[in-house]
Amino acid sequence: MKEKIQKLTEQFGEDLSKVTDLTALETLRLDYMGKKGQIAELMKELGKIPVEQKKEAGQMINTFKQDVTSRFESKKEELVRAEEERMINAAEAYDESLPTENPCGSYHPITLVQRELEDIFESMGFDVEDYNEIVDDYHCFEALNIPKFHPARDMQDTYYLSSKNQLLKSHTSAAQNAIMMKYGKALKEKDRPIRAVFPGRCFRNEAIDACHENTFFQMEGIMIDKNISISNLIYFMKTMLSEVFERDVTVRLRPGFFPFVEPGFELDIQCLICGGDGCPSCKNSGWLELCPCGMIHPNVLKYGGINTEEEPDKYTGFAFGLGLTRLAMMKYGVKDIRVFNEGDLNALSQFVSK
Ligand code: DAH
Repeated sequence: MKEKIQKLTEQFGEDLSKVTDLTALETLRLDYMGKKGQIAELMKELGKIPVEQKKEAGQMINTFKQDVTSRFESKKEELVRAEEERMINAAEAYDESLPTENPCGSYHPITLVQRELEDIFESMGFDVEDYNEIVDDYHCFEALNIPKFHPARDMQDTYYLSSKNQLLKSHTSAAQNAIMMKYGKALKEKDRPIRAVFPGRCFRNEAIDACHENTFFQMEGIMIDKNISISNLIYFMKTMLSEVFERDVTVRLRPGFFPFVEPGFELDIQCLICGGDGCPSCKNSGWLELCPCGMIHPNVLKYGGINTEEEPDKYTGFAFGLGLTRLAMMKYGVKDIRVFNEGDLNALSQFVSK
């Protein structure tokens, strides 16, 4: 037992020195301290050794455990500090007043984030769709199970045009019905699942400040097929977010209400700065709210021509709505949302694609 613990101590030191990020550290923690980890193994062996050796062996295991725990904690602190520094540096790298040295123009930061996401979704088999900015009440609300006078409309007050019931779309969900109509035939006749994302400009009647704009961007996504479940939703969101943030992210779902999904969720990712322990960026909760989502409501599938009265549950699907503007703020450390719409070329030409 003594020799084994000595070897494990050396091995742990070696493994720990190779760890460079919080995800790898968590894996290592599980290797040693998890339910089936090395320490649990030692405890199992403890049960088998003769009684007179038990006391000493038990103490050795305890000392080893304390050693592993404290070295693990200091490594974690070190990594969190490095991550914080990286985020702060990234945020400080952006100064909108700096003169630009870019002589040949550049893409808008939202375009950069949008294209990056489009590439990720295309690699997962999603179609990228475009959609109108001027829509009618039916597509923006009614087809999404938000009837006239539903309180959910209050949060989505937008700009109404004087002609023919037209308005500026308040969310990209407004395209869901049209996408279902477009791809429904191939789903039913050729068993081709609907997988589509549709980025777009959205509008709301907002009082403008550093966090609110009347014009912003979202990217909506839907997937519809037979037997689509919440597990599919979690898998796609986790994979996509891990690509966006270039590391493995931990996600969780909380219940959230949106009339067009049932059940509806708020998807959070574990804070990338503190690794879930709580810090000012995540308001000490350990989590960041990122993306509302849910299983598409049966009425919405029916209005989209996907399911019929006879077979109301034949197809199921999930939907999500990513705030592209918010993602761009997080990615580039932009603290004032107004920068995106002001048209100040100096400010906007400083962003580069990765
Ligand atoms: N359209 C909603 C909004 O802008 C966001 C949303 C919530 C989209 C849930 C979804 C979803 O697809 O499933 O507030």
